[in-house]
Amino acid sequence: MKNLNKLLLLIVFIFQISGCNAQKPANKMDWWKDARFGMFIHWGLYSIPAGEWDNRKTKIGETTEWIQCYMKIPVADYKALAARFNPAQFNADEFVRLAKDAGMKYIVQTSKHHEGFAMFKSSDPFNVVDATPYKKDIVKAMAEACKKYGMHFGLYYSQAQDWNHPGGAACSGHWDPAQDGSFDKYLDEVAVPQIKEILSTYQPEILWWDTPCEMTKERAAKFEPIIAKYPNLIVNNRLCPGIEGDLETPEQFIPATGYPGKNWESCMTMNGTWGFGANDHNWKSSEVLVRNLVDIASKGGNYLLNVGPTSAGLIPDPSIERLREIGSWMKINGEAIYGTAASPFKKLDWGRCTVKKTAEKNFLYLHIFDFPVDGILRLPGLASKIDAAYELKNKTHKLNVESAGNYLKVNVSKVEKEKYATVIVLETSDEVVVYNGPEIHAEYSIFIGKAEFRITSDIPEAEIRYTTDGSVPNTNSAKAEQMNTIAAPASFTVKALCFIGGNAVSGLSELHLSKEKTISAVPLQNCKTGLQYSYFEGAWGQLPDFSDLKPLDQGITQNIDLTMKKRGADYGLVLKGYLQVPETGVYQFLLTSNDGSKMIISGKTLDNDGLHGMEGKSMDIALAKGLHPVEIQYFQAGGGDGLKLEWKTEGKDFTVVGKSYLFHR
Ligand code: GLC
Repeated sequence: MKNLNKLLLLIVFIFQISGCNAQKPANKMDWWKDARFGMFIHWGLYSIPAGEWDNRKTKIGETTEWIQCYMKIPVADYKALAARFNPAQFNADEFVRLAKDAGMKYIVQTSKHHEGFAMFKSSDPFNVVDATPYKKDIVKAMAEACKKYGMHFGLYYSQAQDWNHPGGAACSGHWDPAQDGSFDKYLDEVAVPQIKEILSTYQPEILWWDTPCEMTKERAAKFEPIIAKYPNLIVNNRLCPGIEGDLETPEQFIPATGYPGKNWESCMTMNGTWGFGANDHNWKSSEVLVRNLVDIASKGGNYLLNVGPTSAGLIPDPSIERLREIGSWMKINGEAIYGTAASPFKKLDWGRCTVKKTAEKNFLYLHIFDFPVDGILRLPGLASKIDAAYELKNKTHKLNVESAGNYLKVNVSKVEKEKYATVIVLETSDEVVVYNGPEIHAEYSIFIGKAEFRITSDIPEAEIRYTTDGSVPNTNSAKAEQMNTIAAPASFTVKALCFIGGNAVSGLSELHLSKEKTISAVPLQNCKTGLQYSYFEGAWGQLPDFSDLKPLDQGITQNIDLTMKKRGADYGLVLKGYLQVPETGVYQFLLTSNDGSKMIISGKTLDNDGLHGMEGKSMDIALAKGLHPVEIQYFQAGGGDGLKLEWKTEGKDFTVVGKSYLFHR
């Protein structure tokens, strides 16, 4: 392995570590990239109802800061909350210290959310100083406390949704004539002046836009000259579709491979809501939160973790507990998070990796989530020469490292397991060089006759060899072709490796392809066209058990759609009948809906349940030619609705399942 190093350096992925290069001119993103961990604060009048209005509770998935929209609360009633907003126990220093002790390096606070209430002194009267008995400027207090504790400070501002100013509810659906008005006028008279106010008064380092519905480039241009006056201001990507901003903002998820080459930040809640929710006790464990942070850092992103203070001005106890626990982990392991860059490994079975470059050395931080049973941590395809390996919490505890062909083995059998994640450090004077295993792609995860797959590698000189009999490929194994087609008698696993000059250099990649029996069709005759539908009304956060409910209407539909609905929200649908499969084969179904849906075909379920936007889920299934029983369930809570079923089979593209395939008895 060692003597390959020079050649390897020329041909492989050489890991560029960002933010640590001394010659690079200072960039406004530098501090942000090093920070890796921040606190999001969602706080406003919605902390008073806290998810409950007129004895109605928000449903699962309905975040409490949206309560006015979900419950269609009239403007006057909602605005009256301001007279009750008096967070006497709020202490900005305590908020900031809590974030700091958790290891967070920045705070992004809502200065105005979709409710249109300013948490700062504004020329618009609907603000915390002029409209509440509290009378104090909360944004100012936070800005000052952040300065005092050396915490970077950012402000969230909802530019495109404002339910309590005329014209501001353009994209949320009006429910009160008091919301009527021109959206442009709202932008000119409320949003633009307020953006000027917050930028000049509080000098935030981040401006966090949100929900850019109804925003166009022309409308965004109203804000751009103001922002241009603050060249060091970091802005996210939610000002307007088509305007990138400085960072991507995946919400409530961690993108599988991050956004290579881009700055990004996953914002996430600790329970299920951004604003305080008195009834939401669904807290993530500290282990999940720490591992999210590690996972995000290993993909090169930042973690913006939310708290929702109460109307009394307190951060909820379960959030405090978790922040303290994260803080105790960060005290020991922060070095493996701050200033690090993404992992060079595509996948590690036992945990995650982050890397850091300094003038003298490169460091790999190995975050162990699951200790290997034999006490040996395997690093696939790592070609750099390792100078030292040790525990991060006890640097004098050196660990034995051994190169075993295409794997580096680190002996962790004597390492004491830490809570959440245990960090091991590897030092190298080399560049960090990793040969990742090849990618195995198959369009279908199942097959009935022949299985097809493609194997590719980003290592230009590599020769890819693979097996299908369970053995580890060697130089005599089959060479990967453009498309490999195999008629296998049973399910099998493709195993593939990259070789250079006759030596295995990469990690091993695997893909399981399962051979399935085709599901027989049902022998039916004289079926009529279309599916039977049953229409229901009710408020659900997920698919109910429709068999317990009485439908309001029933009939036949020729298409899988929502034309039989009688209103736009809080309804459900069950479609039942038979699907005519034209030819025996493997089919992939794609069920897309807003909100949740599910399809059961010949006993197999494709689940796309839950409150969500237009989102698709797919399933592969082997079906014999003929009729197959099918049932589709759907529910809609609020907002947009939609239901679509598409399918494809080998050699074809997705098409909508049309009326010529739908039948009932
Ligand atoms: C959303 C929601 C919102 C929340 C935000 C955080 O778009 O509208 O309530 O503030 O995302 O990312």
